[in-house]
Amino acid sequence: MTNNFSKTILDNLTTALVGLDSDLNIVYTNLAFEMLFDLSAKRALGISVQQLPLVEDRLMQLVKDVQSSGEPHTEWALELNLISGKRAIVDCSVTELEQEGKTQLIIELHQVDQHLKLANDEQRQEKVNSAKMLVRNLAHEIKNPLGGLRGAAQLLQREQTDPNLNEYTEIIVEEADRLSNLVNQLLGPNKPPEKRWINVHQVLERLVKLVTAEGLQKIDLVRDYDPSLPEVFVDHDQLFQACLNIVNNAIQAMGEKGTLTFRTRVCRNQVVASNTHALMVRLEISDTGSGIDPEIIDKIFLPMVTSRAQGTGLGLSISQALVDQQGGKIECKSRPGDTVFSILLPISSSQEGGDHAFQ
Ligand SMILES: Nc1ncnc2c1ncn2[C@@H]1O[C@H](COP(=O)(O)OP(=O)(O)O)[C@@H](O)[C@H]1O
Ligand SMILES: [Mg+2]
Repeated sequence: MTNNFSKTILDNLTTALVGLDSDLNIVYTNLAFEMLFDLSAKRALGISVQQLPLVEDRLMQLVKDVQSSGEPHTEWALELNLISGKRAIVDCSVTELEQEGKTQLIIELHQVDQHLKLANDEQRQEKVNSAKMLVRNLAHEIKNPLGGLRGAAQLLQREQTDPNLNEYTEIIVEEADRLSNLVNQLLGPNKPPEKRWINVHQVLERLVKLVTAEGLQKIDLVRDYDPSLPEVFVDHDQLFQACLNIVNNAIQAMGEKGTLTFRTRVCRNQVVASNTHALMVRLEISDTGSGIDPEIIDKIFLPMVTSRAQGTGLGLSISQALVDQQGGKIECKSRPGDTVFSILLPISSSQEGGDHAFQ
């Protein structure tokens, strides 16, 4: 094996590698290290590992333990604070090597936060799915007798001759209709999507028109579009409805004034319902409003979860069902002043969501 070939292999590992001499100075880094730490090999070589501003105490302790005992050691799920302000969770192994009479140490850092995030996402999704199933079953149970109730009230209306009693039967019919409307919303989209290739900017521009037509002068609208965005294969109206519910919430959360931002990007290697997509379109709707109440943030996609007195708690549950139908997914991040809903859509026409897109 040539040196070049070994270097190519080491640079293509997803594990970040750092080599240290006996004084704990960095003597080797691979490409994964440079990417994880956002630090070029040029700047890293020769400096002491302790000088890396991002190395946390547990990692240094691990290095010292291995140095004094000579035994290899691994720590799971170490949290690193990176220069970029981001955090990374890594499994970290430190091994001591003897080479030409000199002691060297190798640190391996394997980033695991993607896996942890996926596991959490899956758990959360399972909970949401079972709660949704419960609500759907309940809605079905209510729907049938409701039809009977309405029919019987109409019969009664025709049969009885006293006009004073009409008022009561009318109330029964009206309330049955109101309940039936609610139950239909709880049951979710009842039409299969009519998918075609569209540019998501068409959907966003329709939303822009609607927001501006409503005369919300104090809401600034920012468009941050990727003009080279590929088309997606979705139902235009269903995607529009999904976004509209999110935009309505954003406007309500901002109250008098704020900034509403529509951002589009391409993103790579995303997992949706166990399918990995090499490429997806990410459509973000963000607002500078109050932020989502932390008490309900894990539940906002469930039907009937609302913090508003007049709210039905159905908007986001409907949005999620509609986006699911397109083979995509919705994510949400929020802190006061910065709430972002992201809709990920597959760039593929396959019904399952396009696992073949993964090359
Ligand atoms: N952009 C947002 N900013 C703050 N809170 C939000 C935002 N979007 C949703 N929420 C929270 O999620 C809840 C559920 O939203 P939704 O399903 O649309 O129901 P509703 O609008 O009827 O309350 C809202 O009541 C609100 O508490
Ligand atoms: Mg809403």
